[in-house]
Amino acid sequence: MIEPSDLRMTRIPLAYGAGHMPALGFGTLIPDAALTITATRDALEAGFRHFDCAERYGNEREVGGALEAGLTAGGIAREDIFVTTKLWNTNHRPERVEAAFQASLDRLGLKYLDLYLIHTPFAFKPGDDQDPRDQNGDVLYDHDVTLLDTWRAMESLVAHGKCRTVGLSDVGLNELRPIYESAKIKPAVVQVEAHPYLPETELLEFCKEKGVVFLAFAPLGHGMKPGPLEDPVILAIAARVGKTPAQVLLAWAVQRGTALLTTPRTAARARENFDISPLPEDALEEINRIQTRQRLNPVVKTGVPGFIPQGREA
Ligand SMILES: NC(=O)c1ccc[n+]([C@@H]2O[C@H](COP(=O)([O-])OP(=O)(O)OC[C@H]3O[C@@H](n4cnc5c(N)ncnc54)[C@H](OP(=O)(O)O)[C@@H]3O)[C@@H](O)[C@H]2O)c1
Repeated sequence: MIEPSDLRMTRIPLAYGAGHMPALGFGTLIPDAALTITATRDALEAGFRHFDCAERYGNEREVGGALEAGLTAGGIAREDIFVTTKLWNTNHRPERVEAAFQASLDRLGLKYLDLYLIHTPFAFKPGDDQDPRDQNGDVLYDHDVTLLDTWRAMESLVAHGKCRTVGLSDVGLNELRPIYESAKIKPAVVQVEAHPYLPETELLEFCKEKGVVFLAFAPLGHGMKPGPLEDPVILAIAARVGKTPAQVLLAWAVQRGTALLTTPRTAARARENFDISPLPEDALEEINRIQTRQRLNPVVKTGVPGFIPQGREA
């Protein structure tokens, strides 16, 4: 039986009394449609109750269908899962936000969302082309809309009861601080790349102080090699505590107070990634002392997704 104090069951309180986010989240950035369906079902069966989606991933229908089937098969209520999706860069104009939100909701087959994020702080030329480029292949940005303009439209989704919380993704303190200060409805969540090679300590401290949930993507370093999964400190701790390197990285993320998103693609890895247990204090400190620094996803510099295969029509 799972104890409430079990690390796997960690739930982080959300701002404005909007409930809790399960710390262990499953990410759906999976380019293959059939694999999206099986991996989502496997994650639900393994115990994941938090699912991260995006308009840009092009698979909200598959995720929604897999969740519906999995909830029915497992006798799990909608209220028992936490679902997020994200507004894409081409929909930053305030008049496009509600339609983009509703289209995502319809594709997911859901009646409400727990969290809606602005996917990146970069506005692209509005329209149906998710990757608008000029004849030189350069991204066409939209300079006629500010992040605050978009944020105001996000706030009105919450004010009208369309989603429970709203937040930002792929931002640093430079973008978060002014939005936080001007917001009538504060960002409840910030989703950014974070792992021992990119701990984002300053941002995490700000989030803790303000009660914003820090949601780490790529907690396993996106499986890249070399990367945190092969770091000698992580390997040594894994051997010492009898867990896998992935389980060590995920436990560290939860124990430092972040929620996380991981993308296991098989049932065995879903079970492995869900089966975390607390690391001793000295192990946490050793991981905190790792000096290697590496950002894996360049999306924060351009708004162009770093982990979505090039040329994909999403
Ligand atoms: N906001 C943003 O801009 C943004 C950007 C990127 C990601 N995200 C979100 O964050 C989620 C997670 O990101 P991520 O996919 O980079 O997470 P991740 O879990 O760090 O990386 C996933 C990779 O790690 C490997 N892996 C998974 N479990 C493993 C295990 N137990 N042992 C060894 N390798 C393992 C997988 O390999 P295999 O392929 O071999 O299974 C996969 O390639 C995404 O799905 C998405 O929802 C958001």
